[in-house]
Amino acid sequence: MDIRFVTAGSGEVVAVMAGEGGELFGAGKALDSASGGRIAKAMKAAGFKGGAGQVVDVLAPDGVDFSRVLVIGVGKAEAADGMGVERWAGHAVKRTLTAVEKLVLQPDALPGVAIAEAGAHAAMGARLASYRFDTYRTKLKPEQKPTLQAVEIVLAHTAAAKARAEVDAAIVEGVFFARDLVSEPPNVLYPESFAERLRDLETIGVEVEILEPTAMEKLGMGALLGVAQGSARPARLVAMKWNGSSMKKQKPFAIVGKGVTFDTGGISLKPGAGMDEMKGDMGGAAAVAGAMKAIALRKAKANVVGIVALVENMPGSNAQRPGDIVNTMSGQTIEVLNTDAEGRLILADAVWYAQDKYDPVALVDLATLTGAVIVALGHEHAGMCVNDEDLAHAISAAGAAEGELVWRLPLSAAYDKLIDTPNADMKNIAGKPVAGSIVGAQFIKRFVQDGTPWAHLDIAGTATKAGPYDDPLSPRGRQAMACVC
Ligand code: BES
Ligand code: MN
Ligand code: ZN
Repeated sequence: MDIRFVTAGSGEVVAVMAGEGGELFGAGKALDSASGGRIAKAMKAAGFKGGAGQVVDVLAPDGVDFSRVLVIGVGKAEAADGMGVERWAGHAVKRTLTAVEKLVLQPDALPGVAIAEAGAHAAMGARLASYRFDTYRTKLKPEQKPTLQAVEIVLAHTAAAKARAEVDAAIVEGVFFARDLVSEPPNVLYPESFAERLRDLETIGVEVEILEPTAMEKLGMGALLGVAQGSARPARLVAMKWNGSSMKKQKPFAIVGKGVTFDTGGISLKPGAGMDEMKGDMGGAAAVAGAMKAIALRKAKANVVGIVALVENMPGSNAQRPGDIVNTMSGQTIEVLNTDAEGRLILADAVWYAQDKYDPVALVDLATLTGAVIVALGHEHAGMCVNDEDLAHAISAAGAAEGELVWRLPLSAAYDKLIDTPNADMKNIAGKPVAGSIVGAQFIKRFVQDGTPWAHLDIAGTATKAGPYDDPLSPRGRQAMACVC
């Protein structure tokens, strides 16, 4: 889809904003007066209140060059932010994606959003809403196929919005990469094939290193390999490096992702109902991969290393058993009491490897780690556990700005104690089903070295949004992008 910034738009369909109470702004007012008040009349007749996402579709108004005017609510104008503008544009694209070839967006400045910003956010929203994953739908009817080729965004001055939108376009490429990875079925996307897709990032300047099981064995990654051993599909650990800083020797920022390409639970088998959702248990790895793609495409002036641990968690005659004790690269031993608490096992080795090999300035891990985080926070906030105040604030602020919210959960010695066991250095679950998400984080923390600023994001609830979510920016439930880039 082509996005253009123009000073005057033309085409079949135009979208304008309206605030709470059905108040039209500059662009809408101009169209309304050109139509002799027909637009305001239609809004009144429809009982339009201007709520966010509410739409009035005005057909063939006289005196206007467009054959359709979409009036789309942004809610209270004073409270609207950049994300509100993105959703506004997203609703317009959702309405037109399979209906027309060209859409014109006429954003207005809002009390909290300057016009250039509004233009850039409109472009971002239009792009995000255009996402589709139709790879395996061979029988789409013509009316189900996207037709929208171009979106024109009308602004009196286009330069500032255009500059911002270029960076955003790179971010959207990263988001779509992550969404594609999450959407792929688990018979297509497994550790080896996932690693091969990451290899493609070399074409945009990312250094990609793929470790196979023999190399991991040499490094002592017994926890990661223990999870993988029940599967016919061998594990992979992939390191993606972007060296964009002007100081080439600058230590990198590390992001580490859980990539369980399918989580059956292993011998601690999950119930059958809904198990297909566990194809998304690589959402953390997808977010890391997407972030690396975005960082490279926007040529970020930063050194970043992305590391993903890729395994399939299967039961079988060679699967690990509850009660097994495994060695980790760090030298610490783990008693595996539940093979379904596998994410923390693979992260134990991946997080250690990231520090050992890259000595990062800070480390963020992303993982669909616990069902408990969905109980606590639903699909609205990711859970965050963090050992550094600056990092905590930076992630919270970035998340708020991008509509990828995080909510902090505590860490403490009392929670840490819950994973002590007399049989090894630690066990992979607490003795009782309490504070599941925090216990998962405390486990990973045992593999974070003193002095490494670290944050753990549990994205089990936000990586995929099943159910009745009407977010135009995440079509068909797929999200999978975190706020780290
Ligand atoms: N992949 C799951 C967590 C999950 C659940 C992600 C629902 C997305 C949706 C994880 O590996 C898991 O099974 N966690 C267990 C941990 C427990 C055994 C301590 C859980 O949450 O039940
Ligand atoms: Mn599991
Ligand atoms: Zn899992």
